[in-house]
Amino acid sequence: MKDIITLGIESSCDETSAAIVKNGREVLSNIIDTQIKIHEQYGGVVPEIASRNHIEAITRVVKTALEEANTTFENIDVVAPTYGPGLVGALLVGLSYGKGLSYAIGKPLVGVNHIEGHIAANYITHKELKPPFLCMMMSGGNTQIVHVKDYCKFEVLGKTRDDAIGEAFDKVARVIGLGYPGGPKIDKLASEGIPNIELPKIHIDNLDFSFSGIKTAVINLHHKMPDINKADLCISFEKTVSEVLVQNILKAAEQTGVKTVSLAGGVSANSYIRKEFLKLEEQGIKIYMPDLKLCTDNAAMIASAGYYRYINGDISDLKLNAVPNLKLGER
Ligand code: KG4
Repeated sequence: MKDIITLGIESSCDETSAAIVKNGREVLSNIIDTQIKIHEQYGGVVPEIASRNHIEAITRVVKTALEEANTTFENIDVVAPTYGPGLVGALLVGLSYGKGLSYAIGKPLVGVNHIEGHIAANYITHKELKPPFLCMMMSGGNTQIVHVKDYCKFEVLGKTRDDAIGEAFDKVARVIGLGYPGGPKIDKLASEGIPNIELPKIHIDNLDFSFSGIKTAVINLHHKMPDINKADLCISFEKTVSEVLVQNILKAAEQTGVKTVSLAGGVSANSYIRKEFLKLEEQGIKIYMPDLKLCTDNAAMIASAGYYRYINGDISDLKLNAVPNLKLGER
């Protein structure tokens, strides 16, 4: 069979990224232009500034991706930009670029769901991984347990009722003075701490999550005891959050009989959470997680998900619009 070369484009939040991926699994290039330094001074992503920076970066990023993969537009078979979920103005930059390019080079457009992209990051790191499996999806905007029944068939088994897990990390980090983005900063400081601070357990009956209570508890504790050891607070927060993630995944594995679990999304880069999930291997659960570079937003994962949509026949119309609240599996 002829190789299929996909150009993935990602601009849903504060990373402008382009990647060239062969047959959905082999990364020939993955260029990521991050805006973290720009948004850091505001304590979070400013949508309007993100869109403007995507516009400035997109042409350069795609050109570099082609050069690094030692290829040209002529060799691209599929153009796969993210079209949701995300910030609408930011999404429109990558999507419009992708639509224009698809038209200009006469190659099919395949719009990609960003969450499917995060799940597909696992296919790049683990060449042997195939559905069915469960995915613990944890990012800045999403927290859900997904039953990946096939490459393009998903069932959401549980989700957050309030904040996404990444939001909780970012908010806690901001309030205790660690800055933005909070996840990596909490991760680093927690490595010096001891999980000796009792925080309220997160309890929900089904496979859903709730992170607003724990977030508020940590913030209140910090306000009441400003001299509290921040490293201990960070690791105690990670411990409490990990407990509910692991507990719900175990319940999902029991309910579905699926004993293969992958992690996905920016928070899956967290070292404490990764260690806690790996412990499940002792209970007969096989754990997969993306390489650290593929956990946070990047276009290689978008190209991978785009490839599987392409071979499934899901070609998009050039009228495709950005969908800021696109749900998993929706087209
Ligand atoms: O998946 P992602 O890059 O963007 C979305 O699609 O939302 O996730 C970003 C989130 C942010 O909340 C960031 O703080 C968090 O992932 N994050 C982490 C770590 N690295 C990134 N959270 C905990 N530990 C980390 N090492």
